[in-house]
Amino acid sequence: MGKENEMYILGIESSCDETSVSIVKNGTEEIATVIASQIDIHKVFGGVVPEIASRHHIKNITIVLEECLHKANMTMEEIDAIAITYGPGLIGSLLIGLEAAKTLAFIHNKPLIPVHHIAGHIYANSLVKELKFPLLAVVVSGGHTELIEMSNHYKFKKLGGTLDDAIGECYDKVARVIGLEYPGGPKIDKLATIGKKTYKLPVPLRDDSYNFSFSGLKSAVINLVHNEEQRGNKINKENLATSFQVVAIESITTKVKKAIIEKKIKNVIVAGGVAASQGLKEAMQQLANELNVELSIPPIKYCTDNATMIAAAGYYAYLDGRIADSTLNAKSQDKLI
Ligand code: KG4
Ligand code: ZN
Repeated sequence: MGKENEMYILGIESSCDETSVSIVKNGTEEIATVIASQIDIHKVFGGVVPEIASRHHIKNITIVLEECLHKANMTMEEIDAIAITYGPGLIGSLLIGLEAAKTLAFIHNKPLIPVHHIAGHIYANSLVKELKFPLLAVVVSGGHTELIEMSNHYKFKKLGGTLDDAIGECYDKVARVIGLEYPGGPKIDKLATIGKKTYKLPVPLRDDSYNFSFSGLKSAVINLVHNEEQRGNKINKENLATSFQVVAIESITTKVKKAIIEKKIKNVIVAGGVAASQGLKEAMQQLANELNVELSIPPIKYCTDNATMIAAAGYYAYLDGRIADSTLNAKSQDKLI
């Protein structure tokens, strides 16, 4: 341990196409972060190619680690523990970060803390504001769309989730069908600010559960674009982006509203890459005002994949007694418990 009551955790994240290392003090204070993004590499393929992603993680991991320690002006001796994303994610990508973390923990004799990627996204919020319980975490990313109730730190209860595609995945596919580059989410979000809701699209899963469904909405957009093309009509991209985003966000806020009321929630946090959406931010703020609940949404740099959130979550995981040994394995799928 560093000074009394000071815990410096080095976090590593490599679950998808970002290689990232970060040092965070006491789960709340970012000391230094380095992110090597592979977006430009995968763009030409229209999405992340797992084998290529793992190869780049191998190339980047040592450089990113050294750069982070240099940026923080710290040595491994001053680090108290290593937090690692063990899953869920792309297995080949996860393994690179995991092996690096295990090696560091072994050589420097530091505790190894296993962090679930979604716990990381949730704890991105603790870098901005103290988490207050009970809270509702609205997890919206490229791989997840879930409503998680938390009664305390590291006490997660899943209320519901997507039955098929994740919302970010749906944003990316809609973007692709109208010719926008990967990742399409931010581009759709931007177009939606200037478009109008002119295209009629089905609101997914209007039921009494806390679940979501995005594959029907995705198919509806794809069919609409193909039909218009066959008729020789030009698609108005801005209006399609707005029409899609309004429906996608409405399906989130409807279920969030139900959870706030039924579970008597007072604090809501939004987590994951799609939390960067201006459209979602505005809709969530409106809902929070209407129901008089506190809302926290991390700044964009903490929304998309990064190791800062992993180091922050690692602190609370450590306090919860979650320490792993060298048998820790990567898991492409794993429940948040
Ligand atoms: O959390 P994240 O970086 O990776 C996963 O763990 O999945 O989320 C990436 C997703 C992508 O689908 C991307 O298109 C979406 O987040 N995204 C956005 C925005 N920024 C990123 N979606 C809508 N609006 C944005 N501004
Ligand atoms: Zn993520």
